[in-house]
Amino acid sequence: MSNNTKAPLLLGIESSCDDTSAAVVRGCELLSNVIASQAVHSAYGGVVPEIASRAHLQNIVPVVSEAIRQAGVSLQEIDAIAFTAGPGLLGSLLVGTSFVKGLHLALDVPLISVNHLRAHVLAHFISEPEEEHRSPEFPFLCLLVSGGNSQIIKVDNPYQMEVVGQTIDDAAGEAFDKCAKVMGLGYPGGPVVNRLGNEGNPNRFVLAKPNVAGLNYSFSGLKTSFLYLLRDELALNPNFIEENKQDLCASLQKTVVDILMGKLLKATKEYKIKRVAVAGGVSANTALRQAFADYAQRYGWDIFIPKFSYTTDNAAMVAVAGYFSFLQSDFVSPDIVPFVRTTLER
Ligand code: KG4
Repeated sequence: MSNNTKAPLLLGIESSCDDTSAAVVRGCELLSNVIASQAVHSAYGGVVPEIASRAHLQNIVPVVSEAIRQAGVSLQEIDAIAFTAGPGLLGSLLVGTSFVKGLHLALDVPLISVNHLRAHVLAHFISEPEEEHRSPEFPFLCLLVSGGNSQIIKVDNPYQMEVVGQTIDDAAGEAFDKCAKVMGLGYPGGPVVNRLGNEGNPNRFVLAKPNVAGLNYSFSGLKTSFLYLLRDELALNPNFIEENKQDLCASLQKTVVDILMGKLLKATKEYKIKRVAVAGGVSANTALRQAFADYAQRYGWDIFIPKFSYTTDNAAMVAVAGYFSFLQSDFVSPDIVPFVRTTLER
C-alpha cells in the first residue's frame, strides 16, 4: 500500500488490557502509533482491572489527539475507525468502545470491530514509510504467544484464520510470569527471565515437558515442576534462588521455547506450510527469536518476526486489521458490545 494516497485513512484504537493506544494508517502504511502503558500495575504483581479502566479513561483523549497530530492529518479526514472489541478486560474494552461510539457520532464515519487476537496476527502487515518490509504470503502459520494465549493459528487469508493448536491450561507468558513471581523477580516477569536467562546455563536444571496430544500446549506441569524444584532446593539452601537465578531463568526459558517450537514444527509438517510467523508479547523473547532463526536454517522455514514495538499491545495492528475489514465493507453498528471470551471468531 506504500505511497497510495487513495487508500483509506483509518484511526485504530486499542484498550483491551493495560495499554491505551491509538494509531493512524493509510491502507497498511503506518502514519502514527501512540501507546500509553500503565506502569502502576507492577506494584500489584499483575493487571488490576479497575485501575486499568480508570487509566484508560485518563489516557484515551490525549493518546488519540497525539496519534492524529503525529500522523499530520485532521480527525475530519479519517475514513473509518477500527477498535478492539475483544477479547480483553471488560472495563478496559468498554472505555475504548464507548469512546469510539462517541467519535463515530461526531464524525459520521463507519465503525470497524477488530478481534485483538487477529490483530496480533495481522501486525505482520504493518508497513512503515521508508522502511523495507516483508509480509508473509498466504497461507502461513502464526505462533501467537502472550500472557493470556498460546496458540498455533493457520492463516489462509486476512479473513480466514483457524486455531489448530492451543494451550489447555496456562499460557506461555503466564508460565514466565508465575515462575518469575515465585523467584521474587517482579511483574511482568517474562522480560526479566529473558534478561537473566541469557546470562545462565539453559541445561543446568531439567524441568517437566508436557505430553499433550496433537498440536495443543500445556504449561501448568512445567510451572509445578519449577515450584517443586525451588521448594526442595530452598529446604537445603535458603539462598538457592539468589545464587542460581541466571541458571533457573535460562532453564525455564529453554524449556518454554522447546515446548513452543516442538508443536510448531509438528504443525508445519502436518499442514505442509513452511511460512511461519510469531506474534504477541512473548515474541519479544530473544531465545524464542533465536530458535525461529535456527529452525529456519534447519528446516527451510521462511520466518516472520515482528519488530519489538509490535509484539505488545498496540493500535497499529488494530488499524491494519481494520483496513482489511474496510476492504470488505465489514462495518458494525454502534450498538455493538465488547466481548471477553478468548476466541478468533468475532
Ligand atoms: O501480548 P502481551 O503484551 O499482553 C497480553 O498477554 O495481553 O503479552 C504479555 C506477556 C507477559 O506474560 C510478559 O511476561 C511476556 O508477554 N513477555 C515476555 C517478554 N516480553 C514480554 N516473555 C518472555 N520474554 C520476553 N522478552
